[in-house]
Formats: sequence, C-alpha cells, structure tokens
Amino acid sequence: MDSISKAIALAAEKRRSGKLENPLSRSESVQPFEYTKTRRIVIQPDVMHENRLIAGGDQQIVVDAYKLLRTRVLHRMQQNNWRTLGITSPGANVGKTLTSVNLAISVAMKHESTVVLVDADLRRPSVHKCFGIEVEYGLLDYLEDGIPLERIMINPGIDGFVVIPSHNHGHTESSERLSSTRMERLVRELTERYPERLVLFDLPPILVGDDVEAFSPYLDAFLLVVEDGKTDIAEYAKTIEILEHEDVLGTVLNKSEETGHGYDYYY
Ligand SMILES: Nc1ncnc2c1ncn2[C@@H]1O[C@H](COP(=O)(O)OP(=O)(O)OP(=O)(O)O)[C@@H](O)[C@H]1O
Ligand SMILES: [Mg+2]
Repeated sequence: MDSISKAIALAAEKRRSGKLENPLSRSESVQPFEYTKTRRIVIQPDVMHENRLIAGGDQQIVVDAYKLLRTRVLHRMQQNNWRTLGITSPGANVGKTLTSVNLAISVAMKHESTVVLVDADLRRPSVHKCFGIEVEYGLLDYLEDGIPLERIMINPGIDGFVVIPSHNHGHTESSERLSSTRMERLVRELTERYPERLVLFDLPPILVGDDVEAFSPYLDAFLLVVEDGKTDIAEYAKTIEILEHEDVLGTVLNKSEETGHGYDYYY
C-alpha cells in the first residue's frame, strides 16, 4: 500500500471511530421525474464511450466499481437524510468530473433514483464536454442574468438524470457567485422541488482558490477524489484538515493500478 492509500485508510478509520457520524433518518419513496420543460438531448454512444462514461458501454468491472460507489454514497446520504454532495479533490485533473458524471449516471440507472448534476466548477467547467453538449444557457446565466432554472437544465437522454452545465471559462468571481444568495436559491429550488432527488456538485480542486470553502455551507457532504501516484500526501492531509468540520463520505482512489481496473473506492 502506498502512502496515499495509507492516508486514506487512516482517514476511513477516523470516520469509523464515529467522529463524523450524524443522527439517522430515513428518506421517503421517490417521486416520478418530470421533463416537461427540461431540454432533452440525445448523446451518441460513441461520444459517451470516448469520454469514458459508463452509459457508453464501458467494461463491466468499471460499471461495477461505480455501482459500489453509488450504493455506498446513497446509503450514507439516505441514512443521514442528506441531499447535496460536493465532489472535490486536493489538486487538479485527478478525475473529479468523470467521477461526478459516472456516479450520477449510476444513480440514475438505479430504479427509482433521480439525480441532478451541477457543474459548479466555474473556473474550468467541463461536465458538458463529457456529454459533447453545446451549452446554450448554464449556471452563470441563472446566477447573473436570472435565466429560469428550467432553461439551464438538460436531460442527457437518461431517465432520472438532469445536468446543469456551466460554460463560462475562467470566471474571476467564482467564489462570490458560488456563495451568492442566488446560488442559495438554486440549491433550495433543486432540493425542495423534488424532495427525493440527489444533487451532486462537480467542484473545483479545494487547494486552488476559495471556491469550495465558499460553497461548503450549501453542501451536506463531500466526496474526495485522489489520483493514485499523483496526489501528494501533504496535499491530501491539508484537504482533510480544511474539511475537518465537514462530513466527508470517503475518498475515491482514481486511476489506481493496484486492482488493475483503474477505479478504487475507500470508504
Ligand atoms: N479512471 C480513469 N481512467 C482513465 N482516464 C481517466 C480516469 N479518470 C479520469 N480520466 C481522464 O483524466 C482526465 C481528467 O479527468 P477529469 O476532467 O474528470 O478531472 P478533474 O479532476 O475534473 O479535472 P479539473 O481539476 O480540471 O476539473 C480526463 O481526460 C478523463 O477522461
Ligand atoms: Mg473537473
């Protein structure tokens, strides 16, 4: 086991000791999802396959790894009656967006589960690229210009799955936007309109700017992603320290060579 794996195991042990446990409460049954006003887009299987989306017919071992992640995430979210989950990492380019998208697809593919994935990485938005979507309206159009929620929501052809993309690269006031009252209203709209829907936020890296910390009041829990052999142990420790008072569900060890299939999940 390399040092980052040991650090993750240690963090998991800390969690098992009960430090971050919340009181239990059960969720109700899932409501049917409505697409009356949501733009529906057909994503070509080859686009999904090229971008490693599990809906594009990935290897079974990869699909199964995301199913395991889904089951554990849903279990913890439902146990605690949590609705909003932020996916982040210490540094850049470790697979946060791919993990967010595949986790969302996996949740949507589960019977009676619904999910919305929000691209909250205003500096380097990329969820739309995974689907090959041309973004007409995105998150900033809602936050800055009052474009209604219905017009920024996209259904990428998978039942129970809605994407809210972003497309304005290099936004310089991203943390101000993420902590704005309009953002608070968006989170409220997303969670109140469909009380059973899981809301995932693809976030920027935590150690690059203050976006994640500014947004953390709107999140019930975090999921961390690290890259095997790339994420630095000191960066990981710093991240855990920053999130000390937050609920962290666990850490995905992405691109791991240990099991040979590229995806690992430490709970
Ligand atoms: N397990 C994996 N196996 C192979 N390729 C992967 C894996 N995870 C991610 N990638 C690839 O690595 C690249 C970076 O992934 P991704 O965009 O998800 O990272 P990110 O952490 O969101 O980056 P950023 O910090 O820029 O937001 C993409 O090309 C993605 O397809
Ligand atoms: Mg990303």
